[in-house]
Amino acid sequence: MTTTLYTLLACLLLAACGSGSDAPAAEAVAVANPSGLSAAQLEHGIGPIEAFEPGPLDAALAERGAEYFKLKCSACHKMDTRYVGPPLATITQTRSPAYIMNMMLNPAEMLEKHPEAKAKLAEFMSLMPNQNLTQDEARAILEYLREQAP
Ligand code: HEC
Repeated sequence: MTTTLYTLLACLLLAACGSGSDAPAAEAVAVANPSGLSAAQLEHGIGPIEAFEPGPLDAALAERGAEYFKLKCSACHKMDTRYVGPPLATITQTRSPAYIMNMMLNPAEMLEKHPEAKAKLAEFMSLMPNQNLTQDEARAILEYLREQAP
């Protein structure tokens, strides 16, 4: 009798452990990251630019970036105050270099898929357009934005 009981108990325990042992882990991932993006995409954005370290500030590059910024960005962005889009003075402290460049080079997909970009869209209610920048131009603007950081 006792043997039967123990056997039954063992079966129950096994069944409890065996059933969908990795289901809770998958669920936790889905809850933490409902976007389905990779950790790299969440940190660095979606687009042609992969994570990189920009190195020491290049003043000449930043100066070129300032010119592009005036032409392509200043209609919507100021440094310290909200305008059509968010202020950008501290953007290099809150977003990775690759994220900022992917936002410049691939705004439509960022606004469609990236949770942080979608949140900004919900806040500013206006689509940041693709300015058809080259990667070199976007890199120069990034340098200018780095120079603006307090
Ligand atoms: C027509 C207006 C417009 C232009 C031009 C524009 N942006 Fe934007 N930008 C926005 C808006 C609005 C947002 C917020 C997201 C949204 O609603 O699309 C945004 C978001 C951003 C973000 C993300 C900010 C954050 O906190 O994540 C960056 C970075 C950015 N813009 C940089 C630039 C740069 C650099 C340029 C010039 C190459 C530029 N933008 C040109 C309107 C514009």
